[in-house]
Parts: sequence; structure tokens; C-alpha cells
Amino acid sequence: MTSIADNSVLIIGLGLIGGSIARGLKNANRQQSICAFDSNSNALEQALSQGVIDQVGTLETLLSSADIVILALPPMSTTEAIPQIASLARPDAIITDVASVKTVILECVNRQEPEFITRFVPGHPIAGSEQSGFAASRGDLFQDRNVILTPQMSTDPDAVALINDLWRRLGANVIGMNLERHDAVLAATSHLPHLLAYALVDVLVNQEQNEDIFRYAAGGFADFSRLASSDAKMWSDVFISNAEATLQVLDAYVRNLEKLKQLIKQKDHDSLMALFTSAKLVRDNFLKRYFQTGEQQISEHKNIQITVEPGGQVSGSLRVPGDKSISHRSVMLGAIADGITRVKGFLEGEDALNTVAAFREMGVTIIGPERGEITIFGVGKYGLKVPRIPLYLGNSGTSMRLLAGLLAAQRFDCELDGDESLRKRPMKRVADPLVEMGAKIETGAEGTPPLKISGSSLKGISYSMPIASAQVKSSLLLAGLYAQGETTVTEPAACRDHTERMLRGFGYPLTVDQGRRTVTLTGGKPLSAIDIDIPADISSAAFFMVAAAISPGSALTLQHVGVNPTRSGVISILRAMGADIQQSNYKEVGGEPVADLTIRHQPLRGIVIPKEQIPLAIDEFPAIFIAASCAEGETVLHGAAELRVKESDRIDAMATGLKSLGIVTETFEDGIRIEGGQLQGGKIDSRGDHRIAMAFAVAGLRANAPIEISNCANVATSFPGFVAMAQQAGIQLKLSQQVFD
Ligand code: S3P
Repeated sequence: MTSIADNSVLIIGLGLIGGSIARGLKNANRQQSICAFDSNSNALEQALSQGVIDQVGTLETLLSSADIVILALPPMSTTEAIPQIASLARPDAIITDVASVKTVILECVNRQEPEFITRFVPGHPIAGSEQSGFAASRGDLFQDRNVILTPQMSTDPDAVALINDLWRRLGANVIGMNLERHDAVLAATSHLPHLLAYALVDVLVNQEQNEDIFRYAAGGFADFSRLASSDAKMWSDVFISNAEATLQVLDAYVRNLEKLKQLIKQKDHDSLMALFTSAKLVRDNFLKRYFQTGEQQISEHKNIQITVEPGGQVSGSLRVPGDKSISHRSVMLGAIADGITRVKGFLEGEDALNTVAAFREMGVTIIGPERGEITIFGVGKYGLKVPRIPLYLGNSGTSMRLLAGLLAAQRFDCELDGDESLRKRPMKRVADPLVEMGAKIETGAEGTPPLKISGSSLKGISYSMPIASAQVKSSLLLAGLYAQGETTVTEPAACRDHTERMLRGFGYPLTVDQGRRTVTLTGGKPLSAIDIDIPADISSAAFFMVAAAISPGSALTLQHVGVNPTRSGVISILRAMGADIQQSNYKEVGGEPVADLTIRHQPLRGIVIPKEQIPLAIDEFPAIFIAASCAEGETVLHGAAELRVKESDRIDAMATGLKSLGIVTETFEDGIRIEGGQLQGGKIDSRGDHRIAMAFAVAGLRANAPIEISNCANVATSFPGFVAMAQQAGIQLKLSQQVFD
């Protein structure tokens, strides 16, 4: 795929948006070839004289040579222009638009020849102002603004990547969206406010004392009516083009105005207060969430607390969200594949969303996630773009370690960073073998993030991992995709094999020798996009498995759980403790085994946890320790030092928490001994570790007094909606904001 700089750009419509695109592209690269067409010859002359464009001419001549055609016109003018563009543009030209409605544009595009449809990339910059015309254009108009692309499944991914690159060069953040959602969202967030501004000014114009109103109108009127200074043609076009979605939200608004009218008539002060207070709260929270700095957000975040009332049981049938490990991998492999990868069952948790954000920053167009669906327009193995900022991976060790491998082999430099917890986690385990492959990676002094990676060419190595880590294995395999020759990774014990399974799914050949525990692949081959169906996450299901296992009277079914044998250690361990877990509806979905699990309460007994089960249940120990505290006798775990370097030191966090609930524990450097007993109530610090928080939430089922768990915001990293689902199952818990002194 070529870059924007190698392509000549034709802008049709040199108003605010078209002019700003031209200025921005010229600012980024003086050599960029730009021509323009507009019915307003003044705008063209100004642009030529200012060096913003290089050439003007007839539409025919300009279209006969342009590589990229940008329709920067109001929506109805865009639909009028499309048939002509389709007949005159070069057969290999890429076409895009900027209209703020997308359904009508796509309807018009889809009436053209198939080759045109594949080359049309619908776009919409969420920028602009009430000003219009070339004179108002600015080179930085799109800096840090969102641009939405709404490509179809028939759109050529290379064309999508090129238009994505164009907007990135203008400083924008590119987001993919499906077109119906785009039009509904924009109707509510942009079209309705414009309509209301026009309506308000129109009402006041028709009032007798309108001179006074306008003369004395200070803040309120000025704030509210600003949008009524927008371009009349453009906005008439928008409302006609997006009539259906606008009318829907307008109906809701009119109903609300009627309600307000009644409340005012009835002098219902309390109801007005309630409505205004809730609206203020929603707006303030929204501003905090989307416009606050990272640090302000983190301190807000820390206050989330979960309180569980003692006792109860769980029952019913649940489907927990999608698997976190597989969700990460689906984005990573989808991004570097050729073609369009469609994913169902994607986990919309913060960790996986950070992976999505990282690839968006590297120029990959991703639609969603929306209701678990995500579509990735692959850019191919060498199509990632240099990130303009350090990639922030939040709490997610998987994102950082896997990306370290993938990015070590690129042709650009980058930096990976994360939150307070991730900044404490060991990264030399991936950096050392990657350096052996030829990578250039700098870690912090303690071998921790941030990671500074300089893109290098790599050579395959044979690496025997000192620890059974799927993250290390996957990191090296991802680097191996780019390395010269063979990369072989040997694991000391079996650990999750999602990367191997998914690479095969993407058509990448690899050899697995189960006896010798090795995986081998040869670099240099492409990946082909696929459809992926992600099973429910067994690590999230584990909390409910333990909940049913420990609380008398429980019977719970967990649907469509991933039961890959390299992940199902929790089932084996709980069964060894006496748990009743039945498996049904076993099947393979896209190379991953899934089944429904039904768990009924049965008294548990303590066991010595078999060493080979440790990597197969590595994330489930916080939940397993709760089961152990409710079991008869003692449970002993050795050989699990890895637990000390997870999102928190999970041996210490669990031992401290269990002790404060009256359970006797003894810790070792590599494990723990837990004596089953009666759980008391108490206060727990989850240390910002999602799995510690959820484990103690489940413990409430067998406690004799409430348990208050603090610092729970990170539950959203792996299991958004946990509290609601736990309530639905029968756990009596609630979420609150903690108040600090
Ligand atoms: C993961 C592997 C495990 C696990 C982590 C996710 C993965 O880490 O703890 O939550 O997706 O590969 P290690 O492989 O480092 O044990």
C-alpha cells in the first residue's frame, strides 16, 4: 500500500472542511500534490495564491489524474456528485467524502458499479464550526478531533487504510463505526442541537421585543444559539438526508418538552429539581469521563467500592463476557492480516479496549466493539503506522507483552506504557529473548515499563522459557512472524495456546510438538482475515463456578464457556476438591472448544494443588482460594511464584484479605496454605486488582457479616457488568463510591 505523500489529491468543494484538508496536507508535506474544484472561483484563486493548492481545472481533467478524490460537500450535493465522479474518476482512484450523514451517501454509492463501491471510503470528520467557507479554513482544524469512517464489508481494506492515513496526517483520531449507528449517534449529538439552535433563534425573531432580546442576550442565548450561525444549505441537507434518525430523537425531545411544560404549569418544583439535578449529574460525569486528564480520572476511579451482604445462593443460567486473552489476539492478528476480520463475542473490557485503541493509533480502522461485535480492516503485516504518542495500555500486561513482540519487528520506533500496576510488572521476560532475536528494547531501571522499542529486523531463535508463560510464548511467536528463519519456543509446562490456534485460523503455518512442548514457525508469510467467534471467558466464569460450589442450594449454568484444555485447570482443581461440575453442549467454535457448565453445590475438601495445573488455572487462584477457605481441611499450593507478579501480588493480597475475614493462612514465596473455616465480615483492599475484588465479592455468600471491598474500579478491565450479573445470579452486592477523608 502506498502512502498519502505518493498520491495526488483532488478536493471537490473548497469550503471550511475542504480548505482545511488542503491546508493541513500542505502543512504536513509541502510536496503534496493537491488540486481543487469548486463553483466559487474566489475560493480557488485565494487557495492558489496562498499555495494551499497547486492546480485548478475542469472536473474532467482533474478527475482524470487524481489518485484520491475527496468530496468535501454538503450531503445532498455529495449524492448529486457521486454518479458523475463514478463515471469520470480513474478506475483505480480512491474516493472519500466528509458528509455528516452516511446512510444516504452509501445508498447512492451502492447504486454505482461494483469497482467504484469497493473504492469509496465513507468518512465524517467531527470537526468544523459555525463558520463556513474557504476563508474560515485552518490547517489545524482536525488536530486531535475524531474522524469516523463507515466502510462496508465490500470496501477495499487498502483504500480504507489510505484514507485512515490521510486523516492521521491531519492530526485526527480515526474511529470506525457502522453507518446506521453513525447516523443515529450524530442525529442525537449534532443534528438535534443544531435544529434546536435554529428553532430558538426563530422563536425569538418572531417575538415583538426581539431587538431587546438580542441586544441584552448575554451568555445563555449566545451559548445556546451559536450553532444557528452555521451554513444554511449544509444543515438543510443534513436534516433531509438524515430525516429518520433525526425525527426519532426529535420526537423524544418534544415529549420531554411537553413534560417540562406540564411541570411548570403545575408549579411542580420538586420534579423540576429532580430532572435538572439528574441532567446536571449526567453532564458533569460525562465531562469528567471524556474530558478530564488521565490522573484526575484515576483518582476518581479509585473510589469504587463493592459491598456484599452475607449469605444467599446462586441459580439460573448466565453467559459471562468474552474471553480476554482471545479478544486481545483477535485485534492483533486481525490488524496485521490481509482482509477484513469480523469478531463476535468480543470482550468490551478496558484491557481489550486498550488494545483496540493502540491499533487505532497505528492506523488500523476498527468498527466497534458494539454488542460484542468488532470489525477490523486489516492493514497487512507491514501496514501499521508509527504511533504519534506512547501507546497507553492501562492495566493490561497481555497487551504490553504481546505488543512488545509484534512492534519490535516494525519499521518504526514506539513507546509502550501503562497504569501504576502495569508499571510495576516485569518486562525483561519478553525483552531479553526479543533482544536475542535482534530487537532493540529499553525497559525502565527495574526491567519494568515504559518500554522504548526501536524497530529492527529480527532473526528467529530457539528459546526455552524459564517460566510457563503464554504471554512470553505469544510475544516471541508474534515477533517470529517477521523474523528471518525459524522461531521455536519451548515451554516448561503447558500454558494457554490461543495464539497458536488463532495463527492457524489466520492461515499461518506452525508446528506444535506436544511431547517436547515446542512451537515452531517460520517468518515471512502473510495472514488472511477470518471470522472469529469468541467463547465466554473461563476466568470470569470461575467466580460463578466458585459461587455455586460454595453456597448451599446453588445450581447454576454458565453458557458457552471456553474450555480449552490449556485454560480449564479451574474445573479440574474444583472437581478434585469435590465440586459437582457437569459439562454439556461441547463443541468447537473457530478452533476453540466451548461447553455449557452446570455447577451444583456440594461440600468441598482441601487438596494439595497439582503443579501441572498451575499454568492452566493461573488467573483463577483468587477464586480458588475462596473455595479453599470454604472447604473442609487445608489446601496447599506450591510452585506458583508467578502469582506474586500479576496485577497485584495475589498471594499476599489474598492472604491478607482472608486473614481479615478470620481464615487461617500461611504464605510461602511460591504459594499459600489455607485452612477452611468460617468466613467473617470485614474490610478488604482489592489493591486495584480486578480478580481480587471479584473473588471477595463471591466470598460474601459464605460470610456471616457484610464484606466491604475497596478499590474496585479495575473490575471493568476484564468483567464489565460483573456487579449486575452477580446480582442476577443471587449474590447480594452493591456498588458505591467510597468517601475518603
Ligand atoms: C495471558 C497469559 C497469562 C495470564 C494473563 C493472560 C495471555 O499470563 O495470567 O492474564 O493472554 O496470554 P502469563 O502467560 O504471563 O502467565
